[in-house]
Amino acid sequence: MKILVTGGLGFIGSHTVVELQNKGFEVVIIDNLSNSSEAVFKGIVAITGKQPIFEKLDLRGKASVQDFFKKHDDVSGVIHFAASKAVGESVTNPLLYYENNLSSLVYLLQELEKKEEANFIFSSSCTVYGQADVIPIAETAPIKPAMSPYGNTKQIGEEIIIDVAKVSAINAILLRYFNPIGAHDSAEIGELPIGVPQNLVPFITQTGIGLRKELLVYGNDYPTPDGTCIRDYIHVVDLAKAHVVALQRLLNKKNLDKVEIFNLGSGVGSSVLEVITSFEKVSGKPFPYKIVDRREGDVTKAYANTDKANGVLGWKTQLSLEEAMASAWKWEQKVKAK
Ligand code: UD1
Repeated sequence: MKILVTGGLGFIGSHTVVELQNKGFEVVIIDNLSNSSEAVFKGIVAITGKQPIFEKLDLRGKASVQDFFKKHDDVSGVIHFAASKAVGESVTNPLLYYENNLSSLVYLLQELEKKEEANFIFSSSCTVYGQADVIPIAETAPIKPAMSPYGNTKQIGEEIIIDVAKVSAINAILLRYFNPIGAHDSAEIGELPIGVPQNLVPFITQTGIGLRKELLVYGNDYPTPDGTCIRDYIHVVDLAKAHVVALQRLLNKKNLDKVEIFNLGSGVGSSVLEVITSFEKVSGKPFPYKIVDRREGDVTKAYANTDKANGVLGWKTQLSLEEAMASAWKWEQKVKAK
């Protein structure tokens, strides 16, 4: 079966391509290489021994999306990762985010709407919950006003899919990720942030390798046990596997609704200081950091209620925070050595 993975050379996309190929799916990747490179393709081949099909194209081009589906009319499912994801950049350049994240989604759905059957997995985020009132966060938690254009594109994207599924043969699963971290154990693929990383774990590993002087910890006066924010860090390989399980659910027509929503997290909350301690353990050396003021827009605490993902989807994380940190560190060392 042929599966289209958009953004398949990105961080989560590339790990998902590996898991799909490991399960025997034929994969066709669309990527515009805006935040990835062809080296990732080589990494995928090195791990799986299989060559996915790669179409370099930009989903903002409606005609190229149409041409793609004419050429690949045998696609059985689509996993849609391709999107811009830097929160700060979305604030300074909102139209880039609205155009890139939403026009590509519309053009894809326009092609899928023509089909007698279509299966669609959407890459969403726990950011849709904002600071949830009830922790751990279940899928039934209310959606809060988005705190950035990036977050808004995830909310609007979900709404577009829900509306289109009502009037078409499209079945969809919306996956709301918590904080994906780590790398493939082979260190052939991993996270490759452009410029200074905004996310915690790549900043930590780049500091560990000597690219950055120290980590600024954004606030230790939050109402949490050690005063730093709490998040649900999930190993990217566990996350990638969830996509395969979700896709199989649609292909086997096991879905209970036209659109289903699942939170993907470990269910465990870890503070910034706990992540640092975990990194010190796997790297075997003390880690430099400094406590500074809070970062605007940060929520105090977010971790997943995993009941629905465990019970209904039949998936749960298998890898720990420490395994994720060890894989991220191994990857950083490999990147440095290149
Ligand atoms: C961030 C985004 C979120 C997005 C997610 C995608 C913000 C405010 N939120 O989530 O919308 O969906 O990335 O991955 O940008 N931290 C530091 N120092 C740093 C970096 C981070 O102390 O240099 C802390 C943060 O305050 C936070 C934790 O580490 O408590 C995790 O931060 P990060 O990796 O940026 O993820 P989120 O803030 O959860």
